[in-house]
Amino acid sequence: MAGARLDISGLHKSFDFEGRSIQVLQGIDLTIEPGEMVAVVGASGAGKSTFLHVLGTLDVPTQGRIVIDNCDISRLSSGQLAAFRNRTIGFVFQFHHLLPEFTALENAAMPAMISGLSESKAKARASELLERVGLSQRLQHRPGELSGGEQQRVALARALVMEPKLLLADEPTGNLDRRTGAEIHDLLVKLNRERGMTLLVVTHNDDLAVRLQRQLRMTQGRLIEGDASAVHDKGGTPSPSSSVDPSMQGAVS
Ligand SMILES: Nc1ncnc2c1ncn2[C@@H]1O[C@H](COP(=O)(O)OP(=O)(O)OP(=O)(O)O)[C@@H](O)[C@H]1O
Ligand SMILES: [Mg+2]
Repeated sequence: MAGARLDISGLHKSFDFEGRSIQVLQGIDLTIEPGEMVAVVGASGAGKSTFLHVLGTLDVPTQGRIVIDNCDISRLSSGQLAAFRNRTIGFVFQFHHLLPEFTALENAAMPAMISGLSESKAKARASELLERVGLSQRLQHRPGELSGGEQQRVALARALVMEPKLLLADEPTGNLDRRTGAEIHDLLVKLNRERGMTLLVVTHNDDLAVRLQRQLRMTQGRLIEGDASAVHDKGGTPSPSSSVDPSMQGAVS
């Protein structure tokens, strides 16, 4: 299976908030080749999650074009978009959004069941993935009965259950200890090798960022290409004093 190709041009996203326009994405042009592994780094508030939501078709851009595998997603109806998203894109949210009344197994199997796969097949796939993220002993736990890192790993299994061509992951190891985080990194890299899945990961974790082929830094509403050393120089969890991207201050009009 080949990964998805992304062509992004002139992408802008602003939010109207209390009569003001907050310009978050301010002209992003980017091509990602099938199977590429890309890290997106940048300060808190820089627009990383916004970028991922727009790419994942969960939010609409104010301006610009996103083409995924020759499909201009702005041309799809909402029904077509939902089907496209289910089939093509796996999303790991920064705040995992698991359904509290369902078990880990049911949560991870959900996208496959929605796609029309039988319950037994969906659960077999989900259970294999939950095993790969180290949760074979937690299949019947509900999110409230799991630790934060375990919930995040369930969210990763859910994102992978449809074998997406594009995985968008927003800080997938943010709640994990170093060792578990490293295991999840290994899994992402392995899945990329096995399946050629295109991988776009927002991370504050330098270890992960340097393992991915390409690093992009979000600053002043744009993405700049970086290298591993740049990630080490400027990356990492922002300290409280730098927790707001200074570039955003000038971006409110
Ligand atoms: N729905 C919204 N309405 C108004 N402003 C918003 C909305 N969503 C996000 N923003 C603003 O857009 C900016 C970018 O937010 P975003 O969540 O993309 O940042 P981020 O880079 O993911 O930060 P973090 O590293 O803290 O997760 C923030 O300043 C935020 O306050
Ligand atoms: Mg974010």
